[in-house]
Amino acid sequence: DGGAKHAHEGELAKEGVSEQAARSCKEITAGVSDAPVQEFRLTAAQTIQELDNGQSEKVWAFNGITPGPEIRVTEGDRVRVVLDNQDIQEGVTVHWHGIVLPCSQDGVAGVTQDAVKPGEQFIYEFVAVSPGTYWYHSHQASSEQVKKGLLGRFIVEPKKETFDYDQEESILLQQLNGTFLVNGSAKGWSVEAAPGEKLRLRVINAANDTFDMSVNGASYRIIALDGHDLNEPGMLDHHDFNIGAGQRYDLLLQMPEQGKVILASEAAGLKVIVGVGSEPLTRPERTVFTFANYGAPVPNDSVERFIFDQNLQIKLDQNLFINTINGQSFHEIPPMVVAEGENVKITITNAGGGDHPFHLHGHTFRVLSRNGQPLQGSPVYLDTLLTQQGETFEVYVKADNPGLWMMHCHNLMHASMGMSMMFNYE
Ligand code: C2O
Ligand code: CU
Repeated sequence: DGGAKHAHEGELAKEGVSEQAARSCKEITAGVSDAPVQEFRLTAAQTIQELDNGQSEKVWAFNGITPGPEIRVTEGDRVRVVLDNQDIQEGVTVHWHGIVLPCSQDGVAGVTQDAVKPGEQFIYEFVAVSPGTYWYHSHQASSEQVKKGLLGRFIVEPKKETFDYDQEESILLQQLNGTFLVNGSAKGWSVEAAPGEKLRLRVINAANDTFDMSVNGASYRIIALDGHDLNEPGMLDHHDFNIGAGQRYDLLLQMPEQGKVILASEAAGLKVIVGVGSEPLTRPERTVFTFANYGAPVPNDSVERFIFDQNLQIKLDQNLFINTINGQSFHEIPPMVVAEGENVKITITNAGGGDHPFHLHGHTFRVLSRNGQPLQGSPVYLDTLLTQQGETFEVYVKADNPGLWMMHCHNLMHASMGMSMMFNYE
């Protein structure tokens, strides 16, 4: 691929992780519990996939198709996934993007496990503690393997719904060897819904780009970000939203009495059509959904009370063609080191080089402020924060999940060109 030197995850481990620490991660497994077990099988193999635009693509897929099978469980279930690798020579893993789980199950090749080679097997096991919209992907040479198709949807249904709806669909956006797809379709994907019906659409961005998504034909709410419910989310009308790579947006919309609802990212040519009938005729002026629209504050939930044990800084930038964190890249970036129980504040600045959706494994963080302005509305919990040039965010991480965790830009090209580091417990 153009001779660029793409670092593999394992190389990072060699630089940043002591042998002893790596051993301790492997020992942190899912404890015993009597939660019901849901078992799934994922088999990685090379195959050819015929797209609906006539193209046929060489893909690497789980269970013969990309996106792979949707894994759907209920909050509290014990999830067991048997991963087999048929013929991917460099090995594969499965990382459960956004899921808080024990370190040994995080699926990062060279850090939490060895890549699973052809003919080998790995069994993942964890409890799906927190309901929401997630996804999974290989984390061995992920910049190559994700774009070749080793990914899928992962949904944890809540025991008790916060929001009420009649129908639900999950919508995965991906870039397969450069072609944009919605749920595997290059032409657009559609679902039928009756007039007046309430729909929950779980939008997952599994590509490397930010998508500017517009919703035409109905007002809607954004009810969850990265799987976490927003508090009293407001009604949006003529609002676009920018979904960064790796992020998830859950929308709730009510079908109009007639016409279709169209969810689209025009630049990428992505389109989702909901309903039947005629398309909306006009495309009104747009405003972009921002933190100001994030619902209502939770009473007595003041972030001012937090006392931080550590204040850490991250500056995301680009130097020539190398992506950097605090001016360094990949192998030279020292890990962030935290102690269990600490309250950690991380200030993240995007100083250049495009959008950087910043992802932390094994944790959910809370966004405190953007460009010096504290968030006013609903608390916002994320695992992937979209940062755009010039923006600075402060986030709060509770260090409550010991282990070795990757932290990287989810533009996986950027990650492989240096924008990756570790968040390690001492
Ligand atoms: Cu979705 Cu480290 O990745
Ligand atoms: Cu980036």
